[in-house]
Amino acid sequence: MAKRIEVDVTDYSFLEAASSYKGSLLRPIDTAKLLKMCFWLEFELSRMTMGWVSSVPDWDLKGELVRLSYLHTQHMVQLRERISELPGADINDKAWTPSGLQEACQRITQAGGLIEFAAGYKFIVQKLYEQYTAFHETLDPILDGPTFDKLRYIELDKEQMLSWGIPYVKFAYVEDGQKREAYHSWLVYIDHVWKVLEKSSSGKKIDWPDHPVLEPAGPIPLKPANDPKYPHVDLTKYKSAMFDPKSPTYDSLKHMIFINASEMSAVESLTYLYYGVQKMPVDFYLDVARHTWDEVRHSQMGVRRLKQMGYRTEDFSWHPSTAPTPETMDQVFPEFYASLTMVMEPCSFIKKRKSIGAFMKHGDPLSSIQSEYDIADERLHVGFGQKWGAKLFEHMEDFISAQNAAETVKQMHLRKMGYSQDEINKVLHSFPEFCGFATMELNYDKY
Ligand SMILES: [Fe+2]
Ligand SMILES: [Fe+2]
Repeated sequence: MAKRIEVDVTDYSFLEAASSYKGSLLRPIDTAKLLKMCFWLEFELSRMTMGWVSSVPDWDLKGELVRLSYLHTQHMVQLRERISELPGADINDKAWTPSGLQEACQRITQAGGLIEFAAGYKFIVQKLYEQYTAFHETLDPILDGPTFDKLRYIELDKEQMLSWGIPYVKFAYVEDGQKREAYHSWLVYIDHVWKVLEKSSSGKKIDWPDHPVLEPAGPIPLKPANDPKYPHVDLTKYKSAMFDPKSPTYDSLKHMIFINASEMSAVESLTYLYYGVQKMPVDFYLDVARHTWDEVRHSQMGVRRLKQMGYRTEDFSWHPSTAPTPETMDQVFPEFYASLTMVMEPCSFIKKRKSIGAFMKHGDPLSSIQSEYDIADERLHVGFGQKWGAKLFEHMEDFISAQNAAETVKQMHLRKMGYSQDEINKVLHSFPEFCGFATMELNYDKY
């Protein structure tokens, strides 16, 4: 009887031991390596775009940048799935961008202004898509069919990503010779950085060219740039923008829509978290990117609806975004993230749910549906909070259990709102009462 051969399908060592890849034929392990390079490039592009949200004083542009960042993370999801099917190491929870690539991208992200940033983004996206194009020539659509399907998905965003920066760079400084020259040296610098990266070999120190920008405008600036069409509330008078009676929707059901519209300030804080916190598991960044993009959508649906109702954003007073400094980041990040997902979002369910019926009663089905979608998204975010809230404290070496994190941030939230310890103790463990203290109620009867 012939001897039975057993093949362990999870053991790829026979492939890795085979003679190394030659010519234009890619072995599965080589494909995995190249896909991994694209994965980290996508990640750095998502960090780059997220990092610049607070640097631009334009509400629409902030939303566009978050959208781009989110799309890059969706590419990462596709790539990771295929990488895990191929031989070689997976993208595990400890994985992070190779240091040379990260440094190159960081240098290009530290641009002097929006035009320079757009040029840098365009440059790296172009490099990325050149790699994807090269795949089409080298990969075999039969042997590597599943990779082709992933690339097909990634291809959908090619035009949008490649063309995003064009309006900024096309006529860059046509009226200003001096700035044009500086811009030209920036382009030379970007190119130089990339060439140095490409020539580098792992383990060896890279000799980077001097950075030409003295004061970069981004990423994550110390003071977030504000859109002048969204004037700030006077925080010496009110705890939060929603308490300012100046806003025309104040003391009416429509204030729900204003609250949605104002979520760009949560977006900005999330972008600092996304860019600032290093070396969390990849899934954390995927979740935070989705969360941030959802808040952009909430702000967009709110602003659109207010405009449909005939209001101007200038008529309202808006909550400023606060930026953590490098010194306060460790403490601010877990606190902000946990209080957003464990206090603000779960508490907002109460008024959102009530507003669904109230809007219908006042004959406004669109606003009612907005609240329904809003709740669907917020449920997802509360889940993210349960998954990452306590882990973030732990990551910042401030160990707090999941149970602890919820209690700590609830206490903190009420203390910030000026309640006494007695009052806090009374409501801390009863959900609806706690929220009654933590947020504002709406006047559901008045439209
Ligand atoms: Fe939201
Ligand atoms: Fe949310």
